[in-house]
Amino acid sequence: MQVLVYSDYDEMSAAAARMIASKIGELPKPVLGLATGSTPIGMYAELVRLHNEEGLDFSNVTTFNLDEYCGLDAEDPRSYHWFMKEHLFSHVNLDPEKAHVPAGNSADPDGECARYERLIKEAGGIDLQVLGIGMNGHIGFNEPGSDPNSRTRVVRLAEQTIEVNRAKGGLNALPGYAISMGIGTIMEARQILLLANGAGKAEIIRRALTGPVTPDVPASLLQTHPNVVCMLDKPAASLLDLS
Ligand code: F6R
Repeated sequence: MQVLVYSDYDEMSAAAARMIASKIGELPKPVLGLATGSTPIGMYAELVRLHNEEGLDFSNVTTFNLDEYCGLDAEDPRSYHWFMKEHLFSHVNLDPEKAHVPAGNSADPDGECARYERLIKEAGGIDLQVLGIGMNGHIGFNEPGSDPNSRTRVVRLAEQTIEVNRAKGGLNALPGYAISMGIGTIMEARQILLLANGAGKAEIIRRALTGPVTPDVPASLLQTHPNVVCMLDKPAASLLDLS
C-alpha cells in the first residue's frame, strides 16, 4: 500500500481529485467507484473545479456508488443519491444513465443488489474505487465482522455509524439498514483510493494500515489488495510510524 500524507485537508482533496482526473484521462471508458460522507466533499469540489476551469470531461465515465440507505428515495436530502447530485452529478457532464447509486427504496432489495452486481460486471469492473473509513473501520457500509467475500447486499448499520452520520448531517433520524457493495465487490476494483482526514481517524487508520488483517476491522483487509493508495492529512496520519 502506498501511503501519502498531505499538510491539510485541501491538499489531500486536490491530490485525490488529480488522481481521479488522471484515471479519466488515461482510460477510454473509466469506471469509478464513489463514496459519500464528509471525507470526499473537498475532492468532489475540486473535480467540479477541474471540469469548469480545465475541461475535465466526464462524458465517457461510468460511476458506481458504494451504498445507499434503505427506504429513502432519491429526492430525500438524507439519501446518497441526493448527496451525489449536490456534490458532483449536477455539476459535471456525467451521463445520468451511467451514474449508478443503489436504489435504497426498491420494492425488491435483494433483486436490486443482484442487479447492481450485474451492472458493475457489465461495465467491465471498477477501475478506481474511492473509499472513506468509518470510525469502526467500516468500508462502504461493511461493518466489523462482515464476510471478506461479501457481495452487494442489505446490511444492518452499527449503532455508532447511525449516530455518527446523524450527528454529522445534523439530522433527526436515519434508517438502520442500507444497501452496500460487499467487501468482495470492493476488493475486485483494480485500484483503491482510501481517504481519511482529521485526528478522529488517526487510531482507526493506524489499526487498518498496521494492525492485524481481520474482518473485525474491515479496512485492514485492504492490506491484502495489490494496488491501494491511501491519502491522509497530517492529523489522520499522526499515529503512523512513517520513518
Ligand atoms: C460512504 C461510505 C462510508 C464512509 C465512512 C466515512 O459512502 O461508504 O464508509 O466513507 O463512513 O464517513 P465520513 O467521510 O463522513 O467520515
